[in-house]
Amino acid sequence: MPAPDLRAPFAALGGVVSQALETLPTPCYLLDETALIRNAELLGDLARRTGCKVLLAQKAFSNYDLYPLLAPHLAGTEASGLYEARLGAEEMPGREVHVFCAAYREDEFAELLRWADHIVFNSPAQLARFGPEAKAAGKSVGLRINPECSTQEGHALYDPCAPGSRLGTTRAQWDAAVNANPSLPRLLDGLHFHTLCEQDSDALETTLDAVAERFGDLLPQMQWLNFGGGHHITRPGYDLARLERCIRRAQQDWGVTVYLEPGEACALNAGFLLTRVLDVTQNGETCNAILDASAACHMPDVLEMPYRPPLLNAGEPGERPCTVRLGGPTCLAGDVIGDYSFDAPLRPGDLLVFGDMAIYTTCKNNTFNGMPLPPIYSRAADGSCRPLAIFGYQDFKDRLGSRR
Ligand SMILES: Cc1ncc(COP(=O)(O)O)c(C=O)c1O
Repeated sequence: MPAPDLRAPFAALGGVVSQALETLPTPCYLLDETALIRNAELLGDLARRTGCKVLLAQKAFSNYDLYPLLAPHLAGTEASGLYEARLGAEEMPGREVHVFCAAYREDEFAELLRWADHIVFNSPAQLARFGPEAKAAGKSVGLRINPECSTQEGHALYDPCAPGSRLGTTRAQWDAAVNANPSLPRLLDGLHFHTLCEQDSDALETTLDAVAERFGDLLPQMQWLNFGGGHHITRPGYDLARLERCIRRAQQDWGVTVYLEPGEACALNAGFLLTRVLDVTQNGETCNAILDASAACHMPDVLEMPYRPPLLNAGEPGERPCTVRLGGPTCLAGDVIGDYSFDAPLRPGDLLVFGDMAIYTTCKNNTFNGMPLPPIYSRAADGSCRPLAIFGYQDFKDRLGSRR
């Protein structure tokens, strides 16, 4: 028996593979109810202490069967468009639904008004086009601002403040728009910014200074300020006290209700991807293991971010006696999860458990190469597992044509 792996992504499992896990089909996602509740409680406590409101950003986690675990601690959901807005309204009933989309569509907007309470526009042109309709429907209307404050060095893909960004309205864009249409500010109830990605509250503090400098004169006229997502609040060691100071500063200086809409923080370290080794090959110095899970299909952020997912009871290359390159079964040469080291050589049939797999996975996977979508299971506090979603050939085929 290996010693328990007590790193944060595996804490919910006690760092070991239980018998219940051994019996699950692979590949599969396993969402951990206790870890989700723990995250939600932490966020709920923050909201109670400070008076801010916390929303679940559904783009990161939208396994709605488990929303009832989150709902008691959250003010509602955040959506990226019509479908997520409807999901939030249907599956977290009675809670707020906020939506931000880089551009709304004429043919969807009336339906969006059915589901959403807060509608955030990306540009003055979209605000002018759809804002009056939203206000007439009694919605709270906001504008996403771009404080032009990059806090993510070398991470342009996730930096909405990168030069030339299409996301958010800069102060220069706003001033030009108001010059041309002086009634525009009257449409606004709030401002929204989203500039962070997996960051601590020091980056938020820096960003808030930039917001104050560029948009501080507008904020006293607003009812709310949404700090967006990217706050890694539930990560061990996150500076909560500084976050609370940021929230209180906005409340005191501008009299606004503060919203946070984290995705990752809601479901951080609350899921696993279980996979088995299908084959092991040796090519020169490199030992390759082909798994039944694919980076490209089942954990696309591993390639897109890119990042190295934590793996139970495995180390950095060379740290343990057997270093192996783990890859998926697809044709993509780059379908490689990474190099990991193990205490013993891997063999076909071995079970591997990747951590922190609840976020940007089940809502982002795909069937490239005809890869099956892994079933999604939920693990209760007593360790028992139940299926939430099972997929088959028909799910793959239905997305490609011949819809009735
Ligand atoms: C507007 C907006 N809000 C919230 C989020 C959630 O971010 P995270 O999951 O990093 O907390 C994102 C992520 O891209 C976003 O674009």
